[in-house]
Order: sequence, then structure tokens, then C-alpha cells
Amino acid sequence: MKTIDLIKTRRSIKQFKADSIHEDDLLNWLEAASYAPNHRMNEPWELLFIGPDTRAKLKHKTNFGSAPVVLAILSKPGATAFERDENVMAAACFAQNFLLAAHEVGVGAYWASLGALPHNREILGVPQDYDVIGLFGIGYPEEVPNAKPRTPMKSKITYLS
Ligand SMILES: Cc1cc2nc3c(=O)[nH]c(=O)nc-3n(C[C@H](O)[C@H](O)[C@H](O)COP(=O)(O)O)c2cc1C
Repeated sequence: MKTIDLIKTRRSIKQFKADSIHEDDLLNWLEAASYAPNHRMNEPWELLFIGPDTRAKLKHKTNFGSAPVVLAILSKPGATAFERDENVMAAACFAQNFLLAAHEVGVGAYWASLGALPHNREILGVPQDYDVIGLFGIGYPEEVPNAKPRTPMKSKITYLS
């Protein structure tokens, strides 16, 4: 698939088939994701693979759409607020790379922000100075929703002299 088509056809998936995801494939997409831009090559992303006990404690309303895999992407602390923001930006680039690498082979994901809530951070054992980019349910989509329309880009652009 062309990159533009890959980007445009990726959707947030809310319900997954039971088919498992091979760990080698998962690692392959994550490795590809690590080519994301990141300042000073500090590679600020870290991952938690969520096992069944931890997943149950999260009490997610749909159990992540029954996704066979749930993982968290964390962003490492920075020495300053500026560096912390940079790390979050780089880790979000990592996340998007990962979503696209998985999507290319028909695997979808659900990005949930609830991992950042204080009680869930505690369940996940996230150190205080780390940011939680998201919790991701990953698997083969049960169904793929239509794309939500986007705002025409020209209305988002200011041309400076
Ligand atoms: C930082 C971030 C947090 C998100 N958190 C949630 C969430 O908690 N629950 C949810 O249903 N979707 C969440 N989403 C997914 C968005 O709802 C979704 O990307 C948006 O509706 C556009 O749909 P699409 O991804 O299919 O294009 C999140 C996306 C991002 C980037």
C-alpha cells in the first residue's frame, strides 16, 4: 500500500477477533516504530506488555474490545519540562509508526488514554516522572469503522510573510 493510503485507511478499532498476534510480528512492528524521530537519539519510549492479571485490574469497559494483546507505551522523563515535552512528542511518533506498521498487515489497534489516570498508573506501576502515551489493544479487527471526516487543511494553515 502507498504510504498515503496506509495513513488514510488506519482506523481506531473497537472490537477484535480472537486470532492471536505472533510475538515476532509485534516485535518487528515495534522495531520499525523505533525509527521515529527523537531528539538526541534518546529513544524515550518504553513498553509494558499487559498480562491477564494486570488487564483485569484495569477493569476496562469493553476489555479493550477483547484484543488479544494489550500494551502500554510510556515516555521517559526529561531533565526539563521542554525535554519532557520532546519525549512525549517522540513517543507519540513511535506510537503512530507502530500503528501503521501493524495496519499494513491488517492488524488494528485501539488507543486508550485511560492508562494516564492516577489509579491506572498505580496498577501499571508507572514511575511518577514517566508519561503514559496510551494503552493499546491490538489484534485483527472484527470490523473497521468508516473514517471520520477531517477538516480541510487549508483552514488550518496560516501563511506568514
Ligand atoms: C492521545 C490519544 C488518546 C486517545 N484516547 C482514546 C480513548 O481514551 N478512547 C477512545 O475511544 N479513543 C481514543 N483515541 C482514539 C481517537 O478517538 C481516534 O483516533 C479518533 O476518533 C479518530 O478515529 P480514527 O483513529 O479511526 O481515525 C485516542 C487517540 C489519541 C491520539
